[in-house]
This record gives sequence, structure tokens and C-alpha cells, in this order.
Amino acid sequence: MIAGSPSSLLDSLAHEVHVWLLPDACELPANCEGWLTADERQRWRRYRLPADRERYLRGKTLQRTALSRYLPIAPPDWRFRIESQGRPVISSPATGTDLRFSLSHTTGLTALAVASDREVGIDVEYVNRQVPDSLARFALSPAELAERAQLQAARDQDPFFEFWTLKEAFLKARGSGFSVAPATLSFTLMTREEPTLMRSVEAWQFAQLKPSPAHQLALAIGPDRAGAFKRLTVHVRHFMQLADDYLATEAA
Ligand SMILES: CC(C)(COP(=O)(O)OP(=O)(O)OC[C@H]1O[C@@H](n2cnc3c(N)ncnc32)[C@H](O)[C@@H]1OP(=O)(O)O)[C@@H](O)C(=O)NCCC(=O)NCCS
Repeated sequence: MIAGSPSSLLDSLAHEVHVWLLPDACELPANCEGWLTADERQRWRRYRLPADRERYLRGKTLQRTALSRYLPIAPPDWRFRIESQGRPVISSPATGTDLRFSLSHTTGLTALAVASDREVGIDVEYVNRQVPDSLARFALSPAELAERAQLQAARDQDPFFEFWTLKEAFLKARGSGFSVAPATLSFTLMTREEPTLMRSVEAWQFAQLKPSPAHQLALAIGPDRAGAFKRLTVHVRHFMQLADDYLATEAA
């Protein structure tokens, strides 16, 4: 098997979760607007601010291009459907696999998580900003607010963003978005290994990354379809490498 070929990447998801990063400084393939479906194009055009349109296009391009690294399906050929609470999932082509993805965009960075046979959620936030008290009280549980106050002096960045990205990643992995009130979940960062979700009935794996000094990223990785917990390795991959490969394939 050639390392990096579609099936070897897909096989590696048996023991890995992949995080694809697309910094705003990286150019998109020139033809990627043409990859949007009629519905996606309509939504893209509805964004009034150019920055929001660009953010949406970067997300959809990363989603399509990254997924095409796992299966021999060209980026424009993927179709997605939106579940009742907002989560996008692959609808076609039928892949015969249980490939899962989760997308997040923030100032300066777009990130996509890819996993197989289990739920996955990702969130990335730009951290060089003030957090209004009202947002902290809305988002954090009383225990998290107390932990945040305790940790704040020792951290370079507000621990709020760690709690927040963990919650969003978890809620996205569950497909519920913020139909669940974020303050009803409670994480603790004061563990020796990884952050822990308190009072969870299932075993979940959580990971935190700092893709740049200005960004905080969290991943939530569920048990497999049979309910079994297995710790996976998080592997970070960069979009430039992926774009170059795709463009090279296109040009051949
Ligand atoms: C899904 C949600 C949780 C994420 O929103 P967000 O942080 O604004 O945006 P992200 O870029 O991280 O994620 C958006 C992506 O999540 C995915 N998504 C949307 N709803 C989802 C759901 N219910 N489950 C899983 N994924 C979902 C989509 O791919 C979406 O990308 P798209 O809009 O380009 O199609 C949203 O429902 C929400 O309620 N957000 C509140 C955000 C907020 O208050 N943030 C303050 C930060 S300090």
C-alpha cells in the first residue's frame, strides 16, 4: 500500500482521528466555487458580508477535498444532507463506509475532523478577544466558572476557551448543536491526563490542540458503534499538502 493513498488513509482511521487545518493564508483551488451544489450555492450567496461568504466556501472546500483523500471520489461529487438539528452528514455517493466528519471555522482558521465508525466533533476558536461575563455565565456551569477563576492567573489565555471548545466539540459530535444548554454540561481541566466530562454515562475521548498561539481547538471522539471505547491517536494534517495533491491530480 502506498502511504497516503486513499485506502491507506481510510484504514488508518481504525486507530486515528485526523484533523485537517486550513489557515486563511492558504489559497483555495481556483475552481472550488463550482463544487458547490445548488443549495450550497444559494446559502453561500445569502451571506451578505464577503468575509462570511469566504468562510463558508473555505469550509465546504476543506470538507470536500479532505474527504476525497479517503475514497476515490472527486471533491465536486460529494453530496451532504442536514440532520434535523443541523449536523451535516454524507448522503452520497454510497461509500460502504462509516466516514464521519465535523467542521469548524473561526477568524484565521478552518478545521475539519475525520473519523470512522464513531461520532466526532471539532471546534476551533480565535482566543485573542475578551469574553463578556454574560457569555461566560451562559456557557459555563457553576463548577466550571469556579475552575476558570482558579486557573486564570496561571494561564496565558482565558480558560473559558478551553471549556467552550470542548463543549461545542461534544455537542457537535452528538449532532445536537446548542439545542442543549451548554451550562448543563460540565468539564474539568484539572485532571492529570485529558479534560473530563463530568457525569457522562459513556466513555468519550477529548483532545485539545493549539494550532497557533491565537487559536484553541478541541476534539470530542465517541465510542465505536458497538459502544466500545478505544483511545485513538490524533493526527494533524495540513490543507496545503492536500490542495497541491489535488491540483497535481487535476493537472495530470
Ligand atoms: C453548530 C454550532 C454549535 C456551532 O456553531 P459555531 O461555533 O458558530 O460555528 P463552527 O464554525 O464551529 O461550526 C459550524 C459548522 O458546524 C456544523 N454544524 C452545524 N450544526 C451542527 C450540529 N447540530 N451538529 C454538528 N455539526 C453542526 C456545520 O458544518 C457548520 O458549518 P457550515 O455552517 O459552514 O455548514 C451552532 O449551532 C451554535 O449554536 N453556535 C453558537 C456559537 C456561539 O455562541 N459561539 C460563541 C463562541 S465564544
